[in-house]
Amino acid sequence: MAAMSSEPRAAAPFLVACRRGTPAHTPVWFMRQAGRSLPEYRALRADVGMLESCRRPDLVTEITLQPVRRHGVDAAILFSDIVVPVAAAGVDLDIVPGTGPVVAAPVRAAADLDRLRPLAAGDVDFVAEAVRLLVAELGDTPLIGFAGAPFTLASYLVEGGPSRHHARTKALMYGDPALWHALCGRLAQITGEFLRVQVEAGVAAVQLFDSWTGALSEADYRRFVLPHSREVLAGLAAAGVPRIHFGVGTAHLLPAMAEAGADVVGVDWRTPLDAAAAALPADVAVQGNLDPCLLFAPWPVIEAEVRRILAEGARAAGHVFNLGHGVLPETDPDVLTRVVALVHALSGR
Ligand code: CP3
Repeated sequence: MAAMSSEPRAAAPFLVACRRGTPAHTPVWFMRQAGRSLPEYRALRADVGMLESCRRPDLVTEITLQPVRRHGVDAAILFSDIVVPVAAAGVDLDIVPGTGPVVAAPVRAAADLDRLRPLAAGDVDFVAEAVRLLVAELGDTPLIGFAGAPFTLASYLVEGGPSRHHARTKALMYGDPALWHALCGRLAQITGEFLRVQVEAGVAAVQLFDSWTGALSEADYRRFVLPHSREVLAGLAAAGVPRIHFGVGTAHLLPAMAEAGADVVGVDWRTPLDAAAAALPADVAVQGNLDPCLLFAPWPVIEAEVRRILAEGARAAGHVFNLGHGVLPETDPDVLTRVVALVHALSGR
């Protein structure tokens, strides 16, 4: 049986689309599909902190499976957070409900780098264990592993928490490029190791989240960010799993993000998928891009948008349907279930 199980998994629509083949239907999953939009998630998390829940393989497994069972999505995404490996590498931080990651002592000077030691596989044993449990439970549904890219992680470490303009991050980047590159070099090691652990434990694809990199010009992205993201993604090339690279507000960065080493580039709702595909190399697939706010619109409006996105995505080398950013906590989960069914019905071959 073990020998047979790899075959249906390779034919999973999600993996076929990532590899620019012709899937049985357009695959769909949602960023932040696990989380507060689901009452069963809120019940499980009632007495457990976010970071603690990420460190418990039993909870990670259950929370990751919840949206797969409920919505019938084509892929699961590991329940974790981009700051989990940074915390495992020694940084004192917490994930504050309604705010996001908050770092006790932000990185502002060379001496602060000492608090960021290299990540060893043993620091994130709980993640490997959760991935193994999930791969056994998921059967033919692929599991996506993920990590935060160096720029987005650096923005939390330098600002000390979420920020709108990333002013301190940019001040460090422009003011002390040597320290900036040293910081991002360390983050690339942490992220690379975190992804390697997930791939070795059995994830079928990875997504590198560089959520806030759209705040940079293309020239600055190429100089300050691309080399570090490329180091992370190149380190995974030999593993043979599809690599998805995503950011918000990145219309001007799409070709550079592909150059960083992506097989699939995630696109937010601001850029039509056919325009994204035209800007990207012909051998790169696209993922996206329904505006998460559209899920609060009347159903006929949602349906029209899903049709438009499928038509635009059909002009790309491969299309994985998703939102343009994560599910908002107030979203009605029944609407997500209907979107999955609609994508499958409209795109079935
Ligand atoms: O379903 C999935 O997509 C997997 C789970 C996942 C989480 N975080 C769980 C989470 C993923 C992929 C992430 C990645 C992540 N975390 C990113 C990149 C993706 C993006 O949204 O751009 C970023 C920037 C973070 C940092 C972070 N962690 C933020 C901004 C927040 C939200 C703060 C809030 O409370 O609104 C978190 C916390 C977090 N991560 C939650 C979840 C389910 C909410 C925690 C809770 O339930 O209280």
